[in-house]
Amino acid sequence: MENKATIFDFQAEVGLTKQLGGLKTTEELVELCHIDQGKYVLDVGCGVGLTPCYLAKKYGCRVVGVDIRARMIDRAKERAKREGVEALVEFRVADAQDLPFDDDLFDAVICESVIAMVPDRQRAVNEYVRVTRRPGGYVGVLESTWLKTPPPAEMIEWVGQDLSGNAQLLSADGWTGLLKDAGLSDIVARTYPIDARNEAINTMKRYGLRNLPRVWARSLAMYIRNPASLVTIKRAGSAPKNLFEYFGYGIYVGQKMEGVPTRGAHPVARKCDIGPPDPPILGGTAALP
Ligand SMILES: C[S@@+](CC[C@H](N)C(=O)[O-])C[C@H]1O[C@@H](n2cnc3c(N)ncnc32)[C@H](O)[C@@H]1O
Repeated sequence: MENKATIFDFQAEVGLTKQLGGLKTTEELVELCHIDQGKYVLDVGCGVGLTPCYLAKKYGCRVVGVDIRARMIDRAKERAKREGVEALVEFRVADAQDLPFDDDLFDAVICESVIAMVPDRQRAVNEYVRVTRRPGGYVGVLESTWLKTPPPAEMIEWVGQDLSGNAQLLSADGWTGLLKDAGLSDIVARTYPIDARNEAINTMKRYGLRNLPRVWARSLAMYIRNPASLVTIKRAGSAPKNLFEYFGYGIYVGQKMEGVPTRGAHPVARKCDIGPPDPPILGGTAALP
């Protein structure tokens, strides 16, 4: 099998992954998925662990992050330690299409800029729904979206090249359809255009200035060790001129209600070290028999 480095191997090495829209879109997912302190959250394709650590720190909720790349998970664990949130987050290697968790486990499953790269997107979304609590848990997806269809063939090709991990975008109707077909209800879909300059600023804000020197130092060290390691980036060539007329992103959130059939329960579900929080102790005295 060909062993070709992708942009994500590079990002794992330097410790920087990105989604679209920055913290503002993460916050929108938080709001739409009703994430707060008492919640148990799964972040699929967590990359270097920025969102799980952010959620644990800001909301005090418990978060499990998974990514298909072991190196991303190493970086995520380093981040949790640096940020002092190890007691609230857990990271492990897993494929979005085959999540090693029990059914109905998480209050919310979120996924930022991942499923466009997953070969069987419907299977991945079915998995998100399977591990979400019923009734009432939420699945929230942030994903690159064709805002205008059909996009020119050369644009589809450019977006799908290795640089972006073979991304295959859908329109908002396409992404919404995946959530509906997985059995989710009350779907909210919001789309946004991309402003390249804001994206760069959003990424800097998301990481914080104090984290960026580490990323630059690692990139430089990588280049000095092996100048060919940056070839993946160079190969991309320049973006099509009217890219952002077509290429944007969307937030898609749905709720899992009773009656959603469970598809493909995982045979080797393993208990998480960071489990759900204890149920709240309700005030007052319970009626004694
Ligand atoms: C664009 S990055 C986004 C990372 C992270 N969500 C963030 O916001 O920074 C995409 C991530 O998805 C991961 N990924 C790709 N395919 C995956 C799969 N099948 N299962 C789990 N993770 C996957 C990549 O390794 C990468 O870390």
